This record gives sequence, structure tokens and C-alpha cells, in this order.
Amino acid sequence: MIIVIDGPAGSGKSSTAKKIAELLDIQYLDSGALYRALTYLWLMNDKPDLPEFFKILPGVKLDAEYRNQTFIINVNGEDITKDIRTQQVANHVSEMAAQPEARKFVNQYMRKLVMSDAYIADGRDLGTAVFPDADLKFYMIASLEERAKRRYRELISDDPSISFEEVKDNLKNRDHQDSSRAADPLKKDENAILIDTTGKTFEEQIDEMVGIIRDKIKLK
Ligand code: DC
Repeated sequence: MIIVIDGPAGSGKSSTAKKIAELLDIQYLDSGALYRALTYLWLMNDKPDLPEFFKILPGVKLDAEYRNQTFIINVNGEDITKDIRTQQVANHVSEMAAQPEARKFVNQYMRKLVMSDAYIADGRDLGTAVFPDADLKFYMIASLEERAKRRYRELISDDPSISFEEVKDNLKNRDHQDSSRAADPLKKDENAILIDTTGKTFEEQIDEMVGIIRDKIKLK
């Protein structure tokens, strides 16, 4: 069983998917973290030309698992869970995610992983490209203003110098990059259920989505 949530940066997909995984006792898969892992590996290898980098992919052993409310990533036996969240990785991940070879690697990994258990996954192209036959598809949106407010509140405690306008511009740019790239862009699948969280509390949106899931899917 696979439920997918796609949507733009800052729409609340990952916190929502994690909460639903906990409530329904299913696994959580963070597809963005897999692109971040490849980006980290590329940076650690001194950013070789991408065709050179892709030659090493068949030898890369990736392990991902959601445990203790954390999506843990291991590459070749090394835990890189924290390393993939740095600004340096964030600055380069769109470039990696635009590469069809990277997408092929990540998609193969995800399709194999979800065969082992029931999953809820979040990303940009899961309903359209990766799991077109998903049991249920959601597409989450919120106004740019609201997404920027939420992200700003998350970031300001770690970096008091950050400005609201900077956060808003970054989200706007990422929206543009993710939806205008040629390879599997961010897009709502025609069968995805649209969830607009503008003006809703976290609890309200969770209740709405869990209600839909229980209504549409027979859970064990
Ligand atoms: O969800 P996130 O911000 O951690 O994702 C990091 C990057 O990966 C983001 O720039 C978009 C890309 N991504 C993607 O192209 N396809 C996915 N299914 C998930 C993420």
C-alpha cells in the first residue's frame, strides 16, 4: 500500500506525512532526502562532472528508514542523516534533482522499498511519475505568504539574521525550478486530491486527510 503527497516547498508535506504515518502505524518515505543524499555524495567527491559521478551510482549502497521520528539515511554504511540538511546541500539539490540519471536511481530505490511494507511518501512527482498507481494521492498547497510565514518561524530561531523576504524569495525560486524543469516536474496528478492548508491548523488538515484515507482505503 502506498499513499503519496506531492506539493511545493513549505506546503507542510513532510510534517503531515510523518504524523499520518504515526497515526496509521505505517512507514514514512522522504523522497527529497534521497535527492539530498546523492547531492551530499557528489559534494563529498569534490563535485565531479555529473556523467562521471553517475558512473559510481551502481556501487552506492543506500539505506533509508524512518525510526524515532527521524528519516535516517545511510550511504555505504555511513549515517548521513544530519549532513543532508546543510545549506550547502540545499543550494545544490535542485541541480541534482533535475538530472534524469539521479531520478532513475532514486525512483528504482523507492519502488523497491515500498514493496516491503505499507508507506506514506512525500515529494514532487510521486503521483505523476514514480507511483502512478498509488492507492491514494494528495497534492498539498498553501499560499506563498503562508508557506513563507511557516518556514520563517522554523528558521528564525537558528538564524536570527534571516529576513522574511529572503525566505519568501527562496520558496518562490524553488517553486519555479521544481515546476519548470524538464524531468518529472512538480505537478498535480489529475487523480490527486487537492488539500489547501491556507488558514487551516495542523490538526484540522490531519483530521481531513486521515478521514479521506480511512474512507478510501481499507487499513489493516
Ligand atoms: O523535499 P525537499 O525540500 O527535501 O526536496 C529537496 C529537493 O529534491 C527539492 O529541490 C526538490 C527535489 N525533489 C524532487 O525533485 N522530487 C521529489 N520527489 C522530491 C524532491
